[in-house]
Amino acid sequence: MSLPITIAPSILAADFARLGDEVRDVAAAGADWIHLDVMDGHFVPNISFGPDVIRALRGATDKTFDCHLMIAPADPYLEAFAKAGCDRVTVHAEAGPHLHRSLQTIRALGMKAAVAINPATPISAVETVLDEVSMVLVMTVNPGFGGQSFVGATLEKIRSLRTLIGDRPIDIQVDGGITIDTIAAAAGAGATVFVAGSAIFSGRSQEAYSRTIAALRAEAERGRG
Ligand code: DX5
Ligand code: ZN
Repeated sequence: MSLPITIAPSILAADFARLGDEVRDVAAAGADWIHLDVMDGHFVPNISFGPDVIRALRGATDKTFDCHLMIAPADPYLEAFAKAGCDRVTVHAEAGPHLHRSLQTIRALGMKAAVAINPATPISAVETVLDEVSMVLVMTVNPGFGGQSFVGATLEKIRSLRTLIGDRPIDIQVDGGITIDTIAAAAGAGATVFVAGSAIFSGRSQEAYSRTIAALRAEAERGRG
């Protein structure tokens, strides 16, 4: 089972004063998905943006909106993210006691469901919900901030998860510290969807975004072998 390489720029590192233009530019530069990091200052020690901002960005592109919820609780807000135009929603296994229900609610709202685990959370946390998801997000930093260093110990988790998934068509997404220097190792371990914030948006121009996305994709393909 070989799923395609997907590059998902995180707009957390974009220029918030011109967010609509940033989404348009990164989409034109070859992004596959737009990754939207929603933070509540409770589940993670930072606050970003919510469904109203996402709805405002929906007109900027037809690309898949991949929404990563770092909020607890998540369930009361899932419908608002569906209405805002999210195509996919990821909830954290650590964020609530009823993970299975959260995933079913996301699917009932017509979105693709995914589950995320923090670096300290073992893959056993997602074992019983694999049939409810199309993707597992293995956090490669502790969530909350862009620009952190890749936690190398997560590579072994990615490998074990790939084995656990077997031939099911389930993507493994990595998020945090993904750069030209780390993406090949993550791809080699079995990741197929790559979130990158600062590595892409530090370029500050559509031409630079395009070069970085192409380079990340080539490195991921090389790492996959
Ligand atoms: C971290 C977020 C990430 C973050 C990645 O909590 O989930 O998506 O924006 O940023 P970089 O690529 O800069 O590590
Ligand atoms: Zn994220």
